[in-house]
Amino acid sequence: MTAPLIDPFARAITYLRVSVTDRCDFRCVYCMSENMTFLPKRELLTLEELDRMCSTFIGLGVEKLRITGGEPLVRRGIMTFFDGMKRHLDAGTLKELTLTTNGSQLEKYASALYDAGVRRVNVSLDTLDEGKFADVTRWGRLPQVLRGIDAAQAAGLRVKINAVALKGFNEPELPQITEWCASRDIDLTWIEVMPMGDIGNEDRIDQYWSLKDVRAKYAEHYTVTDLAENTGGPARYVRLKETGQKIGFITPLSHNFCESCNRVRLTCTGEIYLCLGQEDRADLRAPLRAHPNDNAPLEEAIRAAINLKPKGHDFDYSRQTASGQMPRHMSHTGG
Ligand code: GTP
Ligand code: 5AD
Ligand code: SF4
Repeated sequence: MTAPLIDPFARAITYLRVSVTDRCDFRCVYCMSENMTFLPKRELLTLEELDRMCSTFIGLGVEKLRITGGEPLVRRGIMTFFDGMKRHLDAGTLKELTLTTNGSQLEKYASALYDAGVRRVNVSLDTLDEGKFADVTRWGRLPQVLRGIDAAQAAGLRVKINAVALKGFNEPELPQITEWCASRDIDLTWIEVMPMGDIGNEDRIDQYWSLKDVRAKYAEHYTVTDLAENTGGPARYVRLKETGQKIGFITPLSHNFCESCNRVRLTCTGEIYLCLGQEDRADLRAPLRAHPNDNAPLEEAIRAAINLKPKGHDFDYSRQTASGQMPRHMSHTGG
């Protein structure tokens, strides 16, 4: 047995989030500028390299893989990668294979994902209003995403919606979104908008809405009980008595959840980021490419990187741009 990955703060790293592309078919206002430049293809890990990278992490004790982007399902040939990961699920070394998607390609891929062993998908959806959806995603179209969600549920995938809480934008829709999710047995999590990416502040939609206020908004409509449970992720949960629903809140800004962090991120270029909100990172592509037939240098590089994992992030709107702001785009590190 190889020793598991333990960081300097005694946290076991068992969860790897992998961005397989920085590209996306949407241009969400809080994520990208309209005229994003993407990385040249040669910078990306090939599908074979992605497989080897993930398999190495699994060999070191990673039990959960979440595939992200950009939009992971726009990466050409991505099903080859998912199909490949199934062997680790079958072997029992990988406990969960999942993805976070904008839903645009789910209609096409839902059954294939299920066949590859995926059982849950997180779909980003901030509004159920067609016009607003087009505004916030710039290039996205709501009916296509709704068809994708239908296809996912029909294929047997459990769906979780991630909604970025945007003041004055999806705020009035909170009861509708909540009830739509309840009626379809879909989980719902709200995310505070994080100061990521060099996207300017000119856009009215890009408005921080504290999840404390979101919770207060729920209390206007429902009987809300805080739940103590912690699933190991950043979300905290409440129960709505009227619908029976559990609603998640991801609050990087108003509440810190780093103590129990179990995750690291791999970018599409093969860099490992130790925290979403910090710059600590290491290149894993060089040791991977330099030793095609020997995994030891890659494993060593992974262990050395885990030793760099910081205690937590440093997002803070009160400090304006200075140290809390992340110039990096979410689509690079995969959210
Ligand atoms: P599970 O893997 O099932 O726990 O889901 P998840 O909610 O972690 O995954 P998802 O991809 O849906 O994440 C939703 C969002 O939560 C991400 O896009 C980030 O905005 C935020 N998030 C996830 N992990 C972290 C983290 O380690 N730090 C911070 N600051 N935010 C995170
Ligand atoms: N702040 C919060 N969430 C963000 N996402 C993308 N950019 C940001 C940001 N700046 C979300 C997407 C999706 C997830 C992968 O990350 O909406 O739900
Ligand atoms: Fe694409 Fe997701 Fe970024 Fe929107 S938030 S542009 S769907 S990567």
